[in-house]
Amino acid sequence: MLQRVRSLMALSQPLESFFSPPEGVRGLKELDKSLFHKKVTLPVVRVPAEKTSAFRKNFSKEMLKTPEIKTIQAVPASESEKLLLLSPSQSLTETQEDWIVQNGGTLTAHETSIEYRDYPIKSILKSILPLNEDPPLAYEIIGHIAHYNLKEHHLPYKNIIGEVLLSKQSGIKTVVNKTDRIDETFRTFHMELMAGEDNTVTTVSENGCRFKFDFAKVYWNSRLGTEHGRVINQLKPKDIALDMFAGVGPFSIPAAKKGVTVFANDLNPHSYSALVDNSKRNSVGIKCYNLDGREFIDETREKVQGLLVSEPSARLHVIMNLPAIAYQFLNCFRGYYNSIVKEDNTDSHSSTSQPNKLLASPPLIHCYLFSKSAEPEKDVLQIVEDELGCGLSSFECHFVRKAAPNKAMMRLTFPYPESLLLTRGEKRSIQEVGGTENGDQVGSIAKRNCLADQ
Ligand SMILES: C[S@@+](CC[C@H](N)C(=O)[O-])C[C@H]1O[C@@H](n2cnc3c(N)ncnc32)[C@H](O)[C@@H]1O
Repeated sequence: MLQRVRSLMALSQPLESFFSPPEGVRGLKELDKSLFHKKVTLPVVRVPAEKTSAFRKNFSKEMLKTPEIKTIQAVPASESEKLLLLSPSQSLTETQEDWIVQNGGTLTAHETSIEYRDYPIKSILKSILPLNEDPPLAYEIIGHIAHYNLKEHHLPYKNIIGEVLLSKQSGIKTVVNKTDRIDETFRTFHMELMAGEDNTVTTVSENGCRFKFDFAKVYWNSRLGTEHGRVINQLKPKDIALDMFAGVGPFSIPAAKKGVTVFANDLNPHSYSALVDNSKRNSVGIKCYNLDGREFIDETREKVQGLLVSEPSARLHVIMNLPAIAYQFLNCFRGYYNSIVKEDNTDSHSSTSQPNKLLASPPLIHCYLFSKSAEPEKDVLQIVEDELGCGLSSFECHFVRKAAPNKAMMRLTFPYPESLLLTRGEKRSIQEVGGTENGDQVGSIAKRNCLADQ
């Protein structure tokens, strides 16, 4: 027996392939779990149960370490013994063999079976896909939905990839694959069902709130949860937030929950409905709009100004998460306080005049942008300054995430230049400043001094 065990411990193939599913599953298009059954014979030590930890300590290097098989197993019909499984890729010295005997153990061979449930996803997919093809391991989870972005060569296997994920990842009921480019306006994309229920209405939790929406009809990105939280943390109770591109409310609803007065808007009617529904779901009062961002700013202007005047400690925050083109909406705030100046009869130089009180704390803009530059911080600052036509005296530039290998999503947070809030200059259209609807910069305007523009 000792000789047999020694030969078992002289494995010539890599350990990974020793434990991988049977070769017969390669090319499988429909999941048949029974095909994954496999028997392997392994070197083991039968150890007295009470000495299990001493053996484990002594053979920590030689023990089997693979996700497929438990290292310590019960011995059928014997409570006084345990099986310590050894790796077939390790060998034992004579001293170790003697130690086993001296401590009441027996070195022997043990046949064990590996079933579908024992294999990790990666090894299942690797064994199904054509040889040397990397399995798709990245997916996003949105409530009960898992969302893949499959490569062309994975498509013939999309259904079984979905089935495998469903069988392994608890809580997932629907697996979808992105099939098309993102819709440039509503930031949604077409998807196809890979496996499971054909149901894309889901519920997720983020920053202490619950959001229900149809993932096929609205924008949602689970990777933005931390960034949403970062901005929400900057808002204080009684502040006012204008969420220009609110989606289903991941900024607005947690902000309202902490006492911020929120005006939230989205052009997509499905997002708007979900926004209204989610504010009720989370018992918060939000003023919701289904308008273009520019109209939203005009529509809410009077109410916001009224609130700012009546609550002098309140700060106005403007959240603009539409990274491809948000900066093109910055000109909405040119002359934003003009009407207050007209109505105000006090000495405009006095620090107690309404415009001065407001200007002391201009709107804080949280504007998201994409950049393909090697220096994204400089790039996005330049884009915003060009758009405003003046330099920013203070700002915070934050890298949010990589949206693609060479595309960074950035946030530029800055107080809107005071001088532009009272400017008499005309609002400019997108075409005039050289941007396109899909966010490409086709030119830039010269940087001007803000004051000179009044
Ligand atoms: C990138 S998503 C951001 C959603 C949400 N704020 C978030 O952080 O998850 C941008 C949103 O802007 C909306 N949108 C696109 N163009 C718009 C416009 N001109 N005016 C208002 N909303 C717009 C889209 O429908 C989408 O929900």
